[in-house]
Amino acid sequence: MTAQNKKVRIAVLISGFGSNLQAIIDACRSGYIPNAEVCAVISNRKEAYGLERARQAGIAAVYFPLKPFKDQGKSRQDYDAALADLVAKYRPDWIVLAGWMHVLSMAFLGRFPGRVINLHPALPGAFPGTDAIRRAYEAYQRGEITHTGVMVHLVPDEGVDVGPVLAQQEVPIYPSDTLADLEARVHAVEHELLPTVLRKLVLGQLQPRQAAAEQRTNPTT
Ligand code: GRF
Repeated sequence: MTAQNKKVRIAVLISGFGSNLQAIIDACRSGYIPNAEVCAVISNRKEAYGLERARQAGIAAVYFPLKPFKDQGKSRQDYDAALADLVAKYRPDWIVLAGWMHVLSMAFLGRFPGRVINLHPALPGAFPGTDAIRRAYEAYQRGEITHTGVMVHLVPDEGVDVGPVLAQQEVPIYPSDTLADLEARVHAVEHELLPTVLRKLVLGQLQPRQAAAEQRTNPTT
């Protein structure tokens, strides 16, 4: 293969259902994300259905748990460093955290500066951490918010669901919504926004360095 037709390689880290992983696989296969492929899927949970999705798509699927490290008295940094070694073997251009439920330390992030992307089912600064959709739903019920959203951002450091924003989209909440209604609406937006960001990154239409610089200049946005 020549350098010219070398595909952009995307590694995806998951912990669960993998519907966003599927959206990325589909977008690569259809050409929406041009000249790109998912080169590996890594999960810290054995039962993650996303691993099965990867296998069905013929993509390397690796279960890489934290527990053996803990059992040997090793630290999260040790795990993160070993995870980085594993990921690096697949030579990814981009690393996407799509429902990855483990906060990565610099032992991992320092190996892939400006190349780790996270998806969060809320707007920047809102509901960091787990259960973001449910917490937004409850905040809406209390009259504290009128809408929620989705964001895709770079992961520069150990902050939880913070970093230079690559894209964000509002998601409305309606009075008649059940939590399941809102979850479905948020996920539908995620399944479009994440491939859109990856498409733009691959096409060079989004400059992550610029996003990082803008964030440093104006840290409240
Ligand atoms: C998504 O809502 C993502 O934003 C959050 O975890 C969920 C993962 O869903 N971090 P899936 O595994 O991609 O279906």
